[in-house]
Amino acid sequence: MLATRVGALELCSPLLTASGTFGHDGEATAFLEAGDLGALVLKTVTPRPRHGNRPPRLVETPAGLLNSIGLENRGVEVFLEQNLAALEALELPVVANAGGESVEEYRAMVRAFGPLDAFAAIELNLSCPNVQGGSLPFSSSPEAVTEVVSACRRLTDKPLWVKLSPNVTRISPLALAAEAAGADALTVCNTVLGLVVDWRRRRPALGAGFGGLSGPAVRPIAMRMVREVAQAVEIPVIASGGAACADDVLQFLVAGASAVQIGTAGFREPSCISRIAAELRRELAAEGLAAAELVGTLAWPDPA
Ligand SMILES: Cc1cc2nc3c(=O)[nH]c(=O)nc-3n(C[C@H](O)[C@H](O)[C@H](O)COP(=O)(O)O)c2cc1C
Repeated sequence: MLATRVGALELCSPLLTASGTFGHDGEATAFLEAGDLGALVLKTVTPRPRHGNRPPRLVETPAGLLNSIGLENRGVEVFLEQNLAALEALELPVVANAGGESVEEYRAMVRAFGPLDAFAAIELNLSCPNVQGGSLPFSSSPEAVTEVVSACRRLTDKPLWVKLSPNVTRISPLALAAEAAGADALTVCNTVLGLVVDWRRRRPALGAGFGGLSGPAVRPIAMRMVREVAQAVEIPVIASGGAACADDVLQFLVAGASAVQIGTAGFREPSCISRIAAELRRELAAEGLAAAELVGTLAWPDPA
C-alpha cells in the first residue's frame, strides 16, 4: 500500500529521511519500525573536512527552524572509513548526499560514492556555494546546474538525484537544466533563506548571519515548487519541506511527488516516520487507495 518508485529504485514506503537531519550512519533507524522508511538519505559529505559555521547554528522560529550548520563533516575519506560498514549492513536503500565548492569537488564525491554497493543513489546538494562561480550556490543558475550535473553523470550509472534550492525566482528552468543534464530525480527543495535578529545585541541570532528555514512554515512553498517542477519535467520529484503528518505527505504526492523526505519534524519526534507511516496506512485504507496511485493527480482549477 505504501510502495512507490523513484525511477528505477523501488521503495517500500514514500517516506525518506531528509539530508542532515538523521545522522551519518543509520543509527537513528533504531527509532523506526521496519518497512516504514523507504530510504535513508544521509547528511552532505564533502571531499575535504569542513568545520561548519560559527555558532549559534540553530534558532527556533514560530513554525520552523533556521539553521546555518555550514555542512560540517569530516570529509569523505573519514566518512567512509567510519560509516561504510554500518551502512552496508542496513537492510534498506541508502542514498549518499554529496556537496562541493567546485565542479571538480562534486566529481570527486561521485567518484568516491559511485562504485560503492552500499549506496542505491547519490543526491547532489546543489545549495553549496560555487566558489569558482563567485560564491553563489550552484542551484542559482541553470548553466551551473548543467555543468555540475553533466560532469557527475559521466562518472556513474547510479541514480543521481539533484536537490534544488527554493531561493530562486523561478525553479522550473533549474529543474529542466538538471533533467537535460541527466538527473534521474529532483529533490524539491532545500531550505528557504531567512534571518532572525537579536535586536538587543543588534546582531543576527545565528553566528553566520543568514540561515535556512525549514519545518511547517516552508511547506506551502515546497508544495508550490513540487507542483511547478512536476509539471515541467518527466523525471520523478521527491518533496522536501515541512512534512510532519500523513496529510502533508498525501498533499505532496497529489501535487506530484513520488516520495517525501522528512527532516525537521524528526528533531522533535525521532520516531515520527513510523507514526506518519501508520497514519498513511490508515488514511489510504479508508480511501481504498495505494500511495503510488495518488502521485501527480492534482486537478488544477480552470481559469475564471
Ligand atoms: C539542521 C539541518 C541540517 C541540514 N543539513 C542538510 C545537509 O547537510 N544537506 C542537505 O542537502 N540538506 C540539509 N538540510 C535540509 C533538509 O534536508 C531539508 O531539505 C529541509 O530541512 C526541508 O525539509 P524539512 O522542513 O522536512 O526539514 C538540513 C536541514 C536542517 C534543519
